[in-house]
Amino acid sequence: MGDLETYLQSFDGEPGYLDWAAFGPLAPAVREEAQGDTELLGSGRSAGIRLVTDHVREARELVADLMDVAMDQVVLQPSATYGLMHAVYGLEGGLMLGRGEFPSLTVAATRAADALGSLELQWLEPPDGRITPDVVRAALTERTRALAVSLVDFRTGYRADLAGLREVIGDRLLIVDAVQAFGMVDADYGAADVVCGHGYKWLRAGRGTGFAWFGDRALERITPVLSGFRGVEGDLPVDEVPAPARSAQAYTVSGPDTLAAARLATALRDVADVGVAAIETELAARTGDVIFFADRYGIPVITPREPEQRAGIVTLEPAPRDAAPLAASLANHGLTVTVRAGRIRVAPHVGTGADTLRLFGDALAAFSSARTW
Ligand SMILES: Cc1ncc(COP(=O)(O)O)c(C=O)c1O
Repeated sequence: MGDLETYLQSFDGEPGYLDWAAFGPLAPAVREEAQGDTELLGSGRSAGIRLVTDHVREARELVADLMDVAMDQVVLQPSATYGLMHAVYGLEGGLMLGRGEFPSLTVAATRAADALGSLELQWLEPPDGRITPDVVRAALTERTRALAVSLVDFRTGYRADLAGLREVIGDRLLIVDAVQAFGMVDADYGAADVVCGHGYKWLRAGRGTGFAWFGDRALERITPVLSGFRGVEGDLPVDEVPAPARSAQAYTVSGPDTLAAARLATALRDVADVGVAAIETELAARTGDVIFFADRYGIPVITPREPEQRAGIVTLEPAPRDAAPLAASLANHGLTVTVRAGRIRVAPHVGTGADTLRLFGDALAAFSSARTW
């Protein structure tokens, strides 16, 4: 195990950044690796090219280890949405999902249903947006074949109960968008059939670093509709078109970006060295700090207070008249957050320092003292 302190110190960005749920400034090790590998690819030496290409295997292995699954069930993707599209387009029958899901799911599901005619979308619209086992149980029908859900909701920060959802859906497919949680919280991935994520937020690996896991049940039941020439066993398929691979390789289109794989592998190694459990504990403390300040200045928080029901997102929902002044105060104090539809999404990472939290407290204090009740 690596040292948590060293990991925390690797957060070398400027104070004020609280937008890890949108984009993660790249880790120092990732930046170094990218520079070195770019030079290797410039040399024209086959040993150098092979070295960079090997990061694809390494990244898949690290994803598999973190999830405790088989490596041949993990494939790299240009982004998380591509993995989700492979899953959604290959389904038949009822697909249940929340209306409030990130559009990776809602748009793919709608397009797939329109294009293929074999999918029936079963929308969930709980008032608080939380896709709980009870919400799913009440909406299940005989036609439901799969449930697609975010592990952590990008708006509210609610962390879904994968084991509870599995219990309710029986042996139907559970497709999980793990973008807002992967590597940050210990999740029960064994309860899922498909898990998609990427490296450009919490993992600090930059864009192009998507990945997807397809478990046994998914491999059996999800037709590789979007499978491309790299989705076959063996070499380049010329003069014939073989069947798609029987492994998760089937859910790929073209060759992977080896530089992106290098960045992803480096970022995942950082996480694996420290351990997800240690990161989760630290992250719960940082989100707890954000909630503490929100409570202190009377700003409503819609993210669950129980640490096991959140990850790195804390969403504030001020009264409508307070939203703009609060957002302005945060901006004036040099803080970066996401402001959307009257809500303010605050997303610290484990390396978010006391200086940033102090600025956050100051911004809330300034807003609060100017507020007219
Ligand atoms: C929950 C969730 N899913 C998917 C995505 C999009 O992922 P990608 O850009 O890797 O396709 C995002 C991006 O913000 C997200 O928050």
